[in-house]
Amino acid sequence: MGSIALPVEFLKEFEAGLNPRFPERSAIPARVLGYGEIGTTLEIAGHDGLACKRFPMFYSEEEAINYQALHDAYIKILREAGLNVAQSETVRLEHGGRWIVYIFQEKFPAESIGHRAIHILAPGETRRLVAQVVAELRKIFTFNRLHRGEREVGIDGQISNWAIVGFDARSGLGPEVKLVYFDTSTPLMRLGGREQLDPELFLRSAPSFLVWLIRWLFLPDVMTRYYDFRQVAMDLLANFYKEQRPDLIPVVLEVVNEMIVEEGLRPLSLEEVRGYYRQDAWIWRTYLAFRKVDRALHHITGRPYPYILPGVIKR
Ligand SMILES: Nc1ncnc2c1ncn2[C@@H]1O[C@H](COP(=O)(O)OP(=O)(O)O)[C@@H](O)[C@H]1O
Ligand SMILES: [Mg+2]
Repeated sequence: MGSIALPVEFLKEFEAGLNPRFPERSAIPARVLGYGEIGTTLEIAGHDGLACKRFPMFYSEEEAINYQALHDAYIKILREAGLNVAQSETVRLEHGGRWIVYIFQEKFPAESIGHRAIHILAPGETRRLVAQVVAELRKIFTFNRLHRGEREVGIDGQISNWAIVGFDARSGLGPEVKLVYFDTSTPLMRLGGREQLDPELFLRSAPSFLVWLIRWLFLPDVMTRYYDFRQVAMDLLANFYKEQRPDLIPVVLEVVNEMIVEEGLRPLSLEEVRGYYRQDAWIWRTYLAFRKVDRALHHITGRPYPYILPGVIKR
């Protein structure tokens, strides 16, 4: 496989002309493929077919290097556990006194990505898709069980993190569902029981007036929930609300619960999933509102705001 990363000189030029508020109006225009809590996935003009994920939160080159190494090690473990992970390459560069890391991946067709596919597939096929996602997740939790206290990985199983290989919207899923996992930017990994990802990196994009609150209220939960099969499955299900398909939850709940029970865990109920979603949606909506306040404060005081924020998200 050849390298897919863009050269650092080009990225410097891109950064110099970037309009974080309106990326499509940048000197080198870019289209947003997806917003994350800390990073943004872009398609940069002249480089169609490439997904470029931008993480502008590093204070030093050393921090950026550590993150890149962790990202690579994380993918290695996911693959060792049996996951098909997108080819994913990183580049770091300095800009405006900060270090930025880019992750490059092949851009998967929009309709092949889970949260789009569930709007195209028949309910029975969505059920098969979700069953395959949970089967993939189980590989990770089996790996974690086998290597407990030694090497463990956390994973975000949301439907929007998987692409269906060779998907053709006209012919549906086909006899075999093959998935590729591409959300590699939160490399949660424990070595000898110790978390390797510095959670402070994620607080960097948070408004300074909220940092203490998040550190106290949310961080402990966020850093552990991705290691818990039942919680990851719950997150996957609750996601169907955000993706405007709550009607599908009863359809997929059954197949998810089958595997949860096989793992010796308590099955999920519809009420529990709904409650979880309400709380989660509230947290993120509130958080985004505060980030916009923070952006406005940066603007008023003449400080550059490096993050790309979404508009209104329907949840
Ligand atoms: N390789 C890719 N090809 C096409 N779209 C992508 C790709 N990577 C990310 N995206 C889009 O961006 C969204 C967010 O990217 P993701 O890697 O899941 O990061 P995060 O969820 O941490 O922000 C995805 O749900 C998808 O819509
Ligand atoms: Mg994601």
